[in-house]
Amino acid sequence: MVSTYSILAQEDPKFSIARFGKDVFNGLLRSKKTLSSKYMYDKAGSELYERIMDLDEYYLVASEFSSLENSKKQISEMLKSLPFNLIELGAGNGAKTKVLLKQLMEDKRKFTYIPVDISEDAMQGLVDALNLEIPGLDTKGLVADYFDALDKIKQQKNGKHNLVLFLGSNIGNFNFQDAVNFIFSLWSSLNYGDFVLIGFDLRKDIDQMVAAYNDSHGVTAKFNLNLLERINRDLGGNFDVTKFKHYEPYNIKTGAMESYLISLEDQDVYIENLEKTFHFERWEPIFVEHSFKYTLADVEKLANITGFRIENHFYDDKNWFLDSLWCVKKGK
Ligand SMILES: C[S@@+](CC[C@H](N)C(=O)[O-])C[C@H]1O[C@@H](n2cnc3c(N)ncnc32)[C@H](O)[C@@H]1O
Repeated sequence: MVSTYSILAQEDPKFSIARFGKDVFNGLLRSKKTLSSKYMYDKAGSELYERIMDLDEYYLVASEFSSLENSKKQISEMLKSLPFNLIELGAGNGAKTKVLLKQLMEDKRKFTYIPVDISEDAMQGLVDALNLEIPGLDTKGLVADYFDALDKIKQQKNGKHNLVLFLGSNIGNFNFQDAVNFIFSLWSSLNYGDFVLIGFDLRKDIDQMVAAYNDSHGVTAKFNLNLLERINRDLGGNFDVTKFKHYEPYNIKTGAMESYLISLEDQDVYIENLEKTFHFERWEPIFVEHSFKYTLADVEKLANITGFRIENHFYDDKNWFLDSLWCVKKGK
């Protein structure tokens, strides 16, 4: 079996650049400027994110490895009777998913692994790695936005059960209401009895969380600033990234890490593809990303109001991270 991937029709490179340009245009015209973090993962960004994953300060990776080690046998046992699709939203390099994939292969489960990621570079890397590391795994990757992938899942009625993975605290990039909307769309794309496994980074010592997103080697800063470099590469921008600074505090009121790029001086930036100059004032922030940290009560509330029954909570050894397994409830 050779791992392959395809690109959703509307995600061909020209369309992606046009969509990126439109989002940058709209984001930088706002009175409070924003750029979407989903565009951080081009080739350079995906490589930088892999370096973040190796940092000791970025505890999320070791924590989720531990929680998946603690859950893999139970999850495999639960899936023993039927062929199923293992769909992963925002799969990245799949490093942690391989823990589960290897267990499922060892137990000879019948399944197709369908990783979804908006980044073609991340998908290419994942598919190449799986061909080498897990020969025989049936992989059909999809380069697409989560929302387009959900539509595709809805259309796909092959009678198989689904387990959808949403790991790595990707859910934290939505605020609570957007997480409700997203998980509810996921619920409506799935059938009665399907499962989801969602990774939640739990609230913990603030210094621990702040250190994770402000590492001492400056890799996270480079990763965030790469978004401006990507605008230069893909949209013909002339950002001087030395004139911006990555700033990422914890907002104690909302329970989220918040990432900003701050303009260090009064400056104009021209973006050729958009035929537009944007003005940045000294100390003006561009908001890039939230990473919401959950309490157990938030997790339970999210499952209950979106139509799921909680099956199990799998924690890491320090209780810092939770992979929560839910089952789709439908009908009365
Ligand atoms: C923080 S990384 C986490 C990767 C992986 N889940 C893990 O735990 O290691 C987020 C991944 O989600 C992808 N992603 C972000 N926004 C997305 C979107 N709207 N649709 C599809 N993929 C997205 C990125 O390209 C990136 O590979």
